[in-house]
Amino acid sequence: MTLTPVSPHRTSDSSDHGIDQEKIAPAVLAWVDSIAELTEPDHILWCDGSATEFDLLTHQMVAAGTLIRLNPEFRPYSFLARSAPSDVARVEERTFICSKDPDDAGPTNNWRQPDEMRATLRELFAGSMHGRTLYVVPFSMGPLGSPYSRLGVQITDSPYVVASMRIMTRMGSDALRLITEKTQWVPAVHSVGAPLEADDNDVPWPSNDTKYISHFPESREIWSFGSAYGGNALLPKKAFALRIASVIARDEGWLAEHMLILKVTNPRGRVFHVAAAFPSACGKTNLAMLRPTIPGWTVETIGDDIAWMYPGPDGRLRAINPESGFFGVAPGTGTATNATAVDTLWGNAIFTNVALRDDGDVWWEGLTEKAPEHLVDWKGNDWTPASGTPAAHPNSRFTVAAAQCPSISADWDDPDGVVIDAIIFGGRRASNVPLVVEARDWKHGVFVGATVSSERTAAAEGTVGELRRDPFAMMPFCGYNMADHWSHWLKVGERLSEYGTPPKIFQVNWFRKGSDGEFLWPGFAENSRVLEWILERVDGKAPAEDSPLGWKPVAGGINLNGTDVTGKHWRELFELDQDSWLAELDATERFFSEFGERLPAELTEQLADIRRRVHLSIEN
Ligand code: OXD
Ligand code: MN
Repeated sequence: MTLTPVSPHRTSDSSDHGIDQEKIAPAVLAWVDSIAELTEPDHILWCDGSATEFDLLTHQMVAAGTLIRLNPEFRPYSFLARSAPSDVARVEERTFICSKDPDDAGPTNNWRQPDEMRATLRELFAGSMHGRTLYVVPFSMGPLGSPYSRLGVQITDSPYVVASMRIMTRMGSDALRLITEKTQWVPAVHSVGAPLEADDNDVPWPSNDTKYISHFPESREIWSFGSAYGGNALLPKKAFALRIASVIARDEGWLAEHMLILKVTNPRGRVFHVAAAFPSACGKTNLAMLRPTIPGWTVETIGDDIAWMYPGPDGRLRAINPESGFFGVAPGTGTATNATAVDTLWGNAIFTNVALRDDGDVWWEGLTEKAPEHLVDWKGNDWTPASGTPAAHPNSRFTVAAAQCPSISADWDDPDGVVIDAIIFGGRRASNVPLVVEARDWKHGVFVGATVSSERTAAAEGTVGELRRDPFAMMPFCGYNMADHWSHWLKVGERLSEYGTPPKIFQVNWFRKGSDGEFLWPGFAENSRVLEWILERVDGKAPAEDSPLGWKPVAGGINLNGTDVTGKHWRELFELDQDSWLAELDATERFFSEFGERLPAELTEQLADIRRRVHLSIEN
């Protein structure tokens, strides 16, 4: 395989790469030409997604110092990348929704006028790929050819992004072949924004301090500049599968959500599927790979981050995981917390910003209880346990194929998706929110989703204890007005109720603390006990008690055998402090009022209903 020089900036002959130029949709060719004309790369490579191509790219990146090949004895076919220290996470304040009407972006998004943003971007992208290769990366989100899948093409000048996309998406010629003149596909342009002029030396992780992660919901386009990290650069993930897909889903009547998907089998052999939304950094990957501690239950993984859910003609909600890999946070992933993830990472993985062991393997905080005596940290400096700094960046990541996960379900890539029986919303709440409650109905469930939040824990994030709102765990990921997202959920619920029974909705909180400031619930694998109660409710087998916040388990309703959870803990896990609840409802009312007329009346009614129930509980 050779790279084709372009002169003058024309689409290269891609026939060397198993891609027949004649068969490429003219719209894709014309778009690639137009971006090449703007960005002026030295070469263009149409990515076929083959192992040979991956091998070539990783060899080149090892030679360039972008990747370090890990010791194959411990971590075969695996690499470590160290990013620029200024490019280590998604940049929410540089993420923009460019709808014509600012109200369509809503108060929780950064809005920019589309023509102004286009002008800014054109200037930034002009010549931005000098000295670099423009990679054309066709991809399918969801199984190739599934009626629920969507296609896209990302242009990028980062080989690290190409290699990561081969793990995270179905990428290459097969996806390209599915794009015809009649297919809808999303164009996504990405540049690290670091052009190389003749005598420039490249750096291992090129990026630019100016960053723009821009979305155009009306034309369904993505333009990202300046970062090579995670969701800023792997555009099929948050930018396409959530921000743009949420808009497509609104228009077409389905749901694109920040949810993991689980398959759970109970001791009676009944199979359930569960979709669960949690804000970032609440242990979604751990829950997605849960090993139950209760006998007879089996949990299998379908997805760890994103669910696309479609109301079917039979009134059931079917879901697919649009991704094909996990881009998980490494620190805190260890044998004690997520042994399945550790097993998944045996090889074929790209690690970013973790620490390097002297034996050529990787390490991060939480992988093992004891840190090695010596490491090279994520910045490339010598590190010992006495260093006093984290060896791995707190947002360091692993990128690994879903198919490699020992708990992956056989139907994880079923083109018809799986039927969802229960939906869970969780947050990181030290107070107020009980361990688990079942929403009274779909509308109440939408209220529960709209009020997902976590308490701020560090002064740097704002006032400690204040609520950080993250409705549906979609705050940074909804491509349109969040209040319209709630209205859309209400509509989908109505549609599901017309033909059948919508999935039950639950609220969970693994993070409640007792009066002594300690966590009341053991969490991790023990969360299987809560899943058991949830699915027994779905199966009509578990009793529940009405409470102002929804249906809660009766005392003894969750199996606590073998845990340290005492009766006192249980009471505190479900305690309702009326004053703090009334204050929370006032805060919710203030939050809702930010959405003005777009707020659906049903949510105001839910708020009034819960307030009334909390008041009544005082009188009782
Ligand atoms: C993620 C996130 O990386 O939600 O999945 O931030
Ligand atoms: Mn996520």
